Amino acid sequence: MALQLLVSLMLSSLMGVAWGAGSSFYSEFEVTWGEGRGKIANNGQLLTLTLDRSSGSGFQSRKEYLFGKIDMQLKLVPGNSAGTVTAYYLSSQGPTHDEIDFEFLGNLSGDPYTLHTNVFTQGKGDREMQFRLWFDPTKDFHTYSILWNPRHVIFMVDEVAIRDFRNLESRGIAFPKRQPMRIYSSLWNADDWATRGGLVKTDWSQAPFTASYRNFSADASPSSGGWFNQELDSATLARMRWLQRNYMIYNYCADANRFPQGLPPECSIA
Ligand SMILES: *[C@@H]1O[C@H](CO)[C@@H](O)[C@H](O)[C@H]1NC(C)=O
Ligand SMILES: *[C@@H]1O[C@H](CO)[C@@H](O)[C@H](O)[C@H]1NC(C)=O
Repeated sequence: MALQLLVSLMLSSLMGVAWGAGSSFYSEFEVTWGEGRGKIANNGQLLTLTLDRSSGSGFQSRKEYLFGKIDMQLKLVPGNSAGTVTAYYLSSQGPTHDEIDFEFLGNLSGDPYTLHTNVFTQGKGDREMQFRLWFDPTKDFHTYSILWNPRHVIFMVDEVAIRDFRNLESRGIAFPKRQPMRIYSSLWNADDWATRGGLVKTDWSQAPFTASYRNFSADASPSSGGWFNQELDSATLARMRWLQRNYMIYNYCADANRFPQGLPPECSIA
């Protein structure tokens, strides 16, 4: 009896520490696969995913979100990460799901990661844009954000907008705004396609590969902050365009060969 009381007191004080320190990974996320390869540590302040030859791992948010400013700090697999993919995305369920994706494609030591982005609406994607980063994403934590409101899906890196998917429903283009989404992340092996079209294979002698997450925050309350009505002002838009000219390495809107019937309609709306 006394022991049980003691144990439950200890547990609740541990939980108290985790909650008191802000958003805890324990309360916001659950590790969903990988048999122990995904771990929450430091009183809920750090989450790590690992990948080895037999499995990767992944987690998902406990809550669903319908709009929000969602920030996460990630530190990606260092060294020779070729063949590994760290996916971090929002998704609803079902065949006509919506999805907002960040994917980080690893590379050989010293070669740059590719940041891959995509937006699915009503089950349809094919809207890839890929970027180089202006820093080494394996040295430190950096903040990757999705600002999702009824008029925009804005992808941000360290609070700098890199992509803006606008609501063009008035022009007949679907926009994600009815289906709540969960946050998902996984670290997995994609050496059949990720690095130079599958030519570079994962070097398993470097395993386990680890990606780390910290300082999650989600502002999903329309009345707080300015995110619910936020748009890119002209300075932010100019900065985004500059960044796209200098760091974007693939743009579906510029890939006419891929769309012989014509580019998707949003590509021609300025
Ligand atoms: C890896 O590095 C090479 C050389 O810089 C580059 O061409 C390639 O796009 C990079 N990214 C991936 C995912 O292979
Ligand atoms: C954690 O995130 C918040 C906002 O999301 C930011 O203000 C703060 O500087 C971050 N903390 C660290 C240690 O980066």
